Amino acid sequence: MTELNNSGEAQMPAYSEAVKSGLYAKRSGLLGKYDNVRKYWEDENTRIFLRPYLQQAIERAQSRMRRLRIVDLGCGSADGYELLSGIRFRDADLHQAQVELLSGDVLGLYKGVDLNQDLLEQARSLYGGDPKLVFQQADFTQGFLPADPDGPYDFFFSSFGTFSHHSDDETAIQLLCDIAEATEEHSFVVCDWLGRYSYEWWNLWTDCPRDLPNMDYVVSYIYDRAEREARRDSLQHLTLRLMSREEAEAIVGEAARRSRVSIEVRQFFDRSVFTGRHMDTGDYNPYAQPLRAAVNCLHESNLRTRLDDLILDYVPKPGFPFLNAYYEHLQMAWNALVKYTIELLNLYDERKRQFRSQPPPVPATYPSILREMMQRMRSIVESVGWLNSGLPRENIIEPQLGYALRYLTGALQQGRGCGHGLVGVLEIDKARPKTAGGRR
Ligand SMILES: C[S@@+](CC[C@H](N)C(=O)[O-])C[C@H]1O[C@@H](n2cnc3c(N)ncnc32)[C@H](O)[C@@H]1O
Repeated sequence: MTELNNSGEAQMPAYSEAVKSGLYAKRSGLLGKYDNVRKYWEDENTRIFLRPYLQQAIERAQSRMRRLRIVDLGCGSADGYELLSGIRFRDADLHQAQVELLSGDVLGLYKGVDLNQDLLEQARSLYGGDPKLVFQQADFTQGFLPADPDGPYDFFFSSFGTFSHHSDDETAIQLLCDIAEATEEHSFVVCDWLGRYSYEWWNLWTDCPRDLPNMDYVVSYIYDRAEREARRDSLQHLTLRLMSREEAEAIVGEAARRSRVSIEVRQFFDRSVFTGRHMDTGDYNPYAQPLRAAVNCLHESNLRTRLDDLILDYVPKPGFPFLNAYYEHLQMAWNALVKYTIELLNLYDERKRQFRSQPPPVPATYPSILREMMQRMRSIVESVGWLNSGLPRENIIEPQLGYALRYLTGALQQGRGCGHGLVGVLEIDKARPKTAGGRR
């Protein structure tokens, strides 16, 4: 196994190798960085979560006759720009053409910062022609950009576990203090960590996070099973901070105390509960099922999914009753929706364009969100099951089951560190009396 080394430079070969593998290229589908779960679940759920904050930041900037200025810390190949520019108005009508919040006249600047030159080059080759998009090499474990001529910024952004590269809390606290200082009046800060209690790394759950602040994260997920095992000894490893809500609040509180600026947690969000990348590798949980592969398949056009592969068998971990209760509740809801959809498909008569017999009623005792998703699946099967062209099961029903499951997991998440990612939105407001980083 590669020896652990926490420095920023030491972590870079992992990303360089990923770029060279070609699997960081935007091919999407069943495998690789931009697989279907990333595209249709993770990016979209992050967009939904960030929408109100981006909207507020835009309105605030506009009320001051300014355009929005964004800095993306750990931008990689500018995925953050793609993510943010895809955030849509909440209630956009079907007929509306302009649905994105971050239109050309709203954006002042997007600055991408990363330590990895290969990724920065990829970003420049994609966006270098746009003068509003600039990129700079810097190490964020050394603090925020000193003497940066491009600020002040309204939105300090990070995505997909980037804050977990602060394997020493001191560098995260210092960065937040620097951001507080660099903020002119008001800003939002998006911090994105690896969730401490993701089911993927069940082996690593602990009651005493101080004993295991970081995990040895192996970048095995970018390969399929055979290649992963063939390369096992040469796979890249990263040292990444695992984060729970309580630990994140402590970091923010300390930054607020030191900087003497109001830094408040607005909201936490668990992204990818049960569908993180290491569900498929099973590297940190002997009971992990390849659920991400199954969800990827749901969203792959022209490909039929074995829906039984979606049935979850959550294995409780002794000594963690609160986590077990949460996961078991979610598992029951998830499985109920999958099984109901399987039953709907079995009952549907494509020739007669109706169910052979009435599907079982949705129990009134089920959580309302689950009931809503079950009813939605029934409407979908009834509406398109008879279309015998265009592969209605593969291309309409299965992706809609994917969205229903996404909605369910999004609605039932608790922002505690139970997803692959824990995303936090912080608000810095220099006009507000200083607080110790509590939740609003
Ligand atoms: C998990 S990737 C996320 C990339 C991208 N933001 C995305 O959403 O896909 C983490 C990124 O942080 C960068 N990074 C890691 N340590 C860094 C450091 N100390 N300073 C600056 N960038 C760093 C990596 O090069 C990589 O691009």
